[in-house]
Amino acid sequence: MCGIIGAICETNVTPLLIEGLKKLEYRGYDSAGVAVETAEGLKRVRAEGKIAALEEKLAETPLAGFSGVGHTRWATHGAPAERNAHPHKSPCGRFLVVHNGIIENAAEIKRSLLPAGSVFESETDTETAAHLLTKFYDGDPVAAIARTLSVMEGSFALGVLCADFPDTLFAAAFGSPLVAALGKDGAYIASDAGALPEAPEEIYSLKDREIVSLTRGSLRFYNEKGEAIEKTPAQVRVQALSVDKGGYEHHMLHEIHQQPEAVRATLAGLLGPEGIDLSGSGLTEDFIKNELERIVIVACGSAYHTGLCAKRLFEGKARIPCSAEIASEFRYADPVIDRHTLAIFVSQSGETADTLAALRLCKEKGAKALSIVNVALSAIAAESEGVILTQAGREIAVATTKAYSAQLSVFYALAIRFAALRGAIGSAEEKALTHALAELPERIAEAIDSTKQTAETLAGRLFEAKDMFFIGRQLDEAAAAEASLKMKEISYLNSQAYAAGELKHGTISLVEPGTPVIVLATQDAISAKTRANLAEVKARGAFTVAVTTRALAPAFAEADEVIVLPDVCQWFTCSLAVVPMQLLSYYTAKRRGCSIDQPKNLAKSVTVE
Ligand code: G6P
Repeated sequence: MCGIIGAICETNVTPLLIEGLKKLEYRGYDSAGVAVETAEGLKRVRAEGKIAALEEKLAETPLAGFSGVGHTRWATHGAPAERNAHPHKSPCGRFLVVHNGIIENAAEIKRSLLPAGSVFESETDTETAAHLLTKFYDGDPVAAIARTLSVMEGSFALGVLCADFPDTLFAAAFGSPLVAALGKDGAYIASDAGALPEAPEEIYSLKDREIVSLTRGSLRFYNEKGEAIEKTPAQVRVQALSVDKGGYEHHMLHEIHQQPEAVRATLAGLLGPEGIDLSGSGLTEDFIKNELERIVIVACGSAYHTGLCAKRLFEGKARIPCSAEIASEFRYADPVIDRHTLAIFVSQSGETADTLAALRLCKEKGAKALSIVNVALSAIAAESEGVILTQAGREIAVATTKAYSAQLSVFYALAIRFAALRGAIGSAEEKALTHALAELPERIAEAIDSTKQTAETLAGRLFEAKDMFFIGRQLDEAAAAEASLKMKEISYLNSQAYAAGELKHGTISLVEPGTPVIVLATQDAISAKTRANLAEVKARGAFTVAVTTRALAPAFAEADEVIVLPDVCQWFTCSLAVVPMQLLSYYTAKRRGCSIDQPKNLAKSVTVE
């Protein structure tokens, strides 16, 4: 949610800011802006809409200078209009501020400033920070920032330019991600290290109301009181964000095709010569065998859907009680967890605010916290006791595909090993499952190749539908949830996922002649029941599509369309069933003329609660 970039260097900073903003555009694209310390003082250019609109404005009004900040916005307070675009100006014009996060007490701050004659030109919470800086400034910007932070509640990352210090850039953070980095050619701040213009020689993650002042060759850190502090650089390899689509029309299609590699690279870290090796996860065999009583999986969006799938495996196969929880609900539910609970947090970005808050809650209650994240330098990774990094590479399309698949592969490895350690499966079965897991990337590649054409053709048939339903049982229900989310997030088509047996308890009333119902049916043991559900919707005129295995295909032949998946072990069917569904969503969105990589109202990284 909102992306910040800032740089101070020896060449014109504007092109660097724009390049950085393009990489950060996944964080929001309602408006964008830059402010630069030019020869004529601080200047800003802002535009409603995407970075391209800002570039057009900059072509008419170029900005040149050696230090500056940029921002791409996902609107929280105030419409996505130019007047609400960052950077925001302080009343005296001395400060220009970019902000990511939410200042929760902005309304009170505003009210407190009005009697002194403050006039606000935007509806944003951010502008209050700019006003506070003016109020507290007495010649020392770090002290003014510290006092401003002491008033603000919520979560925030700030980048600040001060006209009195043209050779310095300031930044601060609390609860929202921000890195400060020193490179060969300059010093930088960014919401995501992957947006930095060069590989950093030193990189630091800001937290706890820390402040940094950056000059071309130095970073100085301060605590919330404005006192100088020492910080240790983070030891991580920064994965640069790329805007390259690999020759595909969209990032999403590129990333769908990168799934075999994402899963292969992720599994490479978990499959050792002796089988599944969880030694890097911070979990001991003793804990899994003797202490673990319950697993809770906490996440949002698609990451939550991987949890729905994992729940079936941990409980159904490894025989460990398990629940999958939506982070924004779980954190307020006063959950029953203790030191015998393993809490697993799943997040592509590693910075989803609700997931992070749930992690803190579980730690407070004494649970063991393991996270599955795709970004090493992220708050969730930093605060977890154990981390398993998915190796999906940076994902750009807002709708996740390859990170989802990589997360699932981690869960498979965990479930197999847990099942073996708890005695739910024998060593021969563990070996066979591990072997099948190692081959999963090839099966996913086959699924992409074998279902792509059908998905595209089907999209031509379905793209004008009013409503769409995805149904399945057990693991197929989990896959249906993800299939449905993909469809609605990028094609804006009303779609719902339902447990196949539950449809007749209300939702089936929405099925009309021609309504598409996609039936996921990969589970041998319950296929007869799912087939009956297919018959029920067909009897009401639904246009049915069955997504099934080769063995079950004859049983689902009455569907209007049958998509047959490559053969795979029953544990891993979610990974294959989801592939044609991702492709179906993609081609449907394309037929509907939607903005596939940057769907309306969404952002990839959700750092507000
Ligand atoms: C957003 C994205 C989803 C993602 C969810 C959780 O809503 O659009 O694709 O699944 O956040 O994000 P995380 O980074 O925690 O996986």
